[in-house]
Amino acid sequence: MVAVAYVNGRICSQQDALISVFDHGFLFGDGVYEVVRTYNGELFLLDRHLARLKTSAHMIALPLPVDAAGLDRTIRDTMKAFADGPGSGASNANLYVRILVTRGLGDGSYDPASSPASSLVIIVKALAPPPASAYEQGVKVSLVPIVRNHPGSVNPLIKSNNLLNNALAMREALRHGAFEAILRNYRGDIAECSQSNLFVVKHGVAKTPRLAEGLLAGITRAFIMDVAQEAGVRVEDAVLLDEDVFAADEVFLTSTTREIVPIVRVDDRIIANGVPGPITKRLLEAYRQKADQLTRRPAPVQ
Ligand code: PDD
Repeated sequence: MVAVAYVNGRICSQQDALISVFDHGFLFGDGVYEVVRTYNGELFLLDRHLARLKTSAHMIALPLPVDAAGLDRTIRDTMKAFADGPGSGASNANLYVRILVTRGLGDGSYDPASSPASSLVIIVKALAPPPASAYEQGVKVSLVPIVRNHPGSVNPLIKSNNLLNNALAMREALRHGAFEAILRNYRGDIAECSQSNLFVVKHGVAKTPRLAEGLLAGITRAFIMDVAQEAGVRVEDAVLLDEDVFAADEVFLTSTTREIVPIVRVDDRIIANGVPGPITKRLLEAYRQKADQLTRRPAPVQ
């Protein structure tokens, strides 16, 4: 991997992208982040990601070190540095952009007054999407015993740098040879995956757990709700149980880096007839079309 990073005012290569061990992001995971991607060289849904970053920061009383315009400029400067560097390879490759804001340098106490200046890090690298086989054949996921955070602890609405729970869930899934982990909430209802949201399709209707179940308000999840309407697919948020997943006609997951990936197996259970379903395919096509349309630059006038 060859990445370029902006770290508190400096754009540097991957090996020089260092941050202090006294940063409370390192010491406590005290910070928030976003992952944005490009299509056609353009940042996709950046405004929605920056709005969620602001919400996440607000929920942990973390001041953002720059305003939205400054953040936008810094992201683009870092992307430019990546494009000019050795990692860019094929110039039309899509990019992965991770924006992190942490509590910054402090004295190691939990008193926020000890860390007056938030840290800002932006990582840019080539996007590594799932393999084509994941979209063509679908993937296996694992329903894991790790419980999604209670909204009264680190609320899942906060896109927090504190990802240990997600990492533990994913580790469990990997142990079972699965592509992703499905987590239930503290009540035992389905919440979401370790790094993506979950949808099931039954009798032609796509359903996804309500935000009240305790999950991240995925940008892709919300975008799919818009796209689905145009594609003539009904989407509802609902309370979902294990049985709703096992007995679904189709299941799929969604995220910025993965778009829409069909799920054909949950542990030892095959979903429907074990191949990606027609609604999943229709939504993926509509999603990609819309993403292309929103990021395509007009052809130059001859
Ligand atoms: N993951 N749920 C969780 C727990 C996530 O971490 C993510 C995103 C999503 C999907 O959100 P969105 O559609 O806004 O990407 C749902 C990102 C991509 C990541 O951590 O890499």
